[in-house]
Amino acid sequence: MSTNLPGEDVGADQLPLVQAESVASHESVRATDQVDAALDEAARVAAQLGPTGRPMPVLPEPVALTEHGPAHVIAMCNQKGGVGKTTSTINLGAALAEQGRHVLLVDFDPQGALSVGLGVNPHELDRTVYNLLMEREVSADDVLLKTNVPGLDLLPSNIDLSAAEVQLVGEVAREQTLGRVLGPVLPDYDYVIIDCQPSLGLLTVNALTAADSVIIPLECEFFALRGVALLMDTILKVQDRLNPQLELQGILATMYDARTNHGREVLARVVEAFGERVFHTVINRTVRFPETTVVGEPITTYASSSAGAAAYRQLAKEVLAR
Ligand SMILES: Nc1ncnc2c1ncn2[C@@H]1O[C@H](COP(=O)(O)OP(=O)(O)OP(=O)(O)O)[C@@H](O)[C@H]1O
Ligand SMILES: [Mg+2]
Repeated sequence: MSTNLPGEDVGADQLPLVQAESVASHESVRATDQVDAALDEAARVAAQLGPTGRPMPVLPEPVALTEHGPAHVIAMCNQKGGVGKTTSTINLGAALAEQGRHVLLVDFDPQGALSVGLGVNPHELDRTVYNLLMEREVSADDVLLKTNVPGLDLLPSNIDLSAAEVQLVGEVAREQTLGRVLGPVLPDYDYVIIDCQPSLGLLTVNALTAADSVIIPLECEFFALRGVALLMDTILKVQDRLNPQLELQGILATMYDARTNHGREVLARVVEAFGERVFHTVINRTVRFPETTVVGEPITTYASSSAGAAAYRQLAKEVLAR
């Protein structure tokens, strides 16, 4: 045993070793402290940076409104299919309605997915957006449905709408048709969100012509940016020729999986391409969203305390702050 008892003399040969050990242990404590401090700093920085790699802004709490309208019209648009347009229309709309905003959602896709997602069977409807577009005597009030979410209304669609694309071609001012029929209800709402179909045809051009701004959902997948140049080109043409006030409200990254390198790389590329136009809010991939379609409700009511609901509430705050 080399351990010395208290009061015992330390052997001459042991002294330097004990001192060396103590110096070494001091240094290692200091090094550990430095590593801990560096890790703390990294965690602090990471906590302040959002998933897009930019510092998360402190979003103001939305103020309560005492009066409503006229509506800001948003087109939810991407000609790529399955990127989260309908999911984002429903849940952004519901989150805005939770903040006391009056919101009208327009199903502008003959698939009627928005209507289904809000619990409406589109095949049982007598009047839809199709009748609103094509029949002079039909007004938005005739087609409007209340949803189960207070403050959230719907203009539903079904497969009939696919005929409008063809029939509108022969109309005068065919691109302005949706804007014209929405005009009378704009004073009743704070936000109108149009769920576009996955195409850049005449219906989508109508939505862009009726809109004040566009939100482009992008799925965080390998081909996310494919076709976006064409979409931007269409937006510019509509701005140029039909609707000079149209703005790009933001790019919304959807179906993000932070656990994969691939997801993180795609998101980084999207931020590199669009910078400040990318919403700080990123929507994660979760099975809760497909579940909401089955029950026909927004995630904000179906799974009110889920991370997905929180994400769309945060997106609503960003939209309100922009
Ligand atoms: N964040 C998400 N995580 C997981 N699944 C999602 C997410 N967002 C949407 N989905 C699911 O992905 C599918 C496509 O979403 P959605 O219908 O919203 O896309 P879309 O762009 O409207 O599609 P389309 O172009 O066909 O209209 C749906 O089954 C939906 O439930
Ligand atoms: Mg859709």
